[in-house]
Amino acid sequence: MLTRELCNPVSALSIAFNPLFWNIIGRQEYHNKVLTKLFGGRSQTACYALAATIFSLGLIRDGLYERALRHQPSHPLLETAEAQYFAYALIAVGNILVISSTWALGVTGTFLGDYFGILMDSIVTGFPFNVTDAPMYHGSTCSFLGTAILYGKPAGIIITLWVYVVYQIALSYENPFTAGIYAKRERERAAAKGNDKKSR
Ligand SMILES: *[C@@H]1O[C@H](CO)[C@@H](O)[C@H](O)[C@H]1NC(C)=O
Repeated sequence: MLTRELCNPVSALSIAFNPLFWNIIGRQEYHNKVLTKLFGGRSQTACYALAATIFSLGLIRDGLYERALRHQPSHPLLETAEAQYFAYALIAVGNILVISSTWALGVTGTFLGDYFGILMDSIVTGFPFNVTDAPMYHGSTCSFLGTAILYGKPAGIIITLWVYVVYQIALSYENPFTAGIYAKRERERAAAKGNDKKSR
């Protein structure tokens, strides 16, 4: 099972490639404004283009994952009615987390807008952020697991563990970086307030 998966590693590579891609591009944008320059100074447009690219890469990754699963052996335990209901529930929870998170943050808030200097006015604390701190990542992981069980494939559960590890690493890079971007804005706001008082 595992060896066959290793012979067909495109799906696993795609899973790791996507967060690597958006973190490298995101930091290049933050430090050197590469995408904004590419789009003639229009950072909003650049962010939308990156969003479309990340979304498409996600579709390709999902397609590769489903194709990889199809060639794996099934396990009867995963094909029981209970397992199948559980799979549907996981996919539903995953989609609710991803869609409600995108709804709450908007397109630029979801797709690295803060790296482009497009910051949220305040931190979003309502649903789904009051049930998980990373609804995009955790929702996506739920969908991977749900799909593995829906297809009845133990190999899919192993790929989901890989997804989980990759996302934990991505979060450990992204969270402190984003927190730093917002902390910088708070310092600038505080400084602006201080100057305001002095000039009065
Ligand atoms: C999360 O917030 C929503 C409203 O935005 C609320 O209905 C829900 O009960 C909250 N959940 C938790 C666990 O606090």
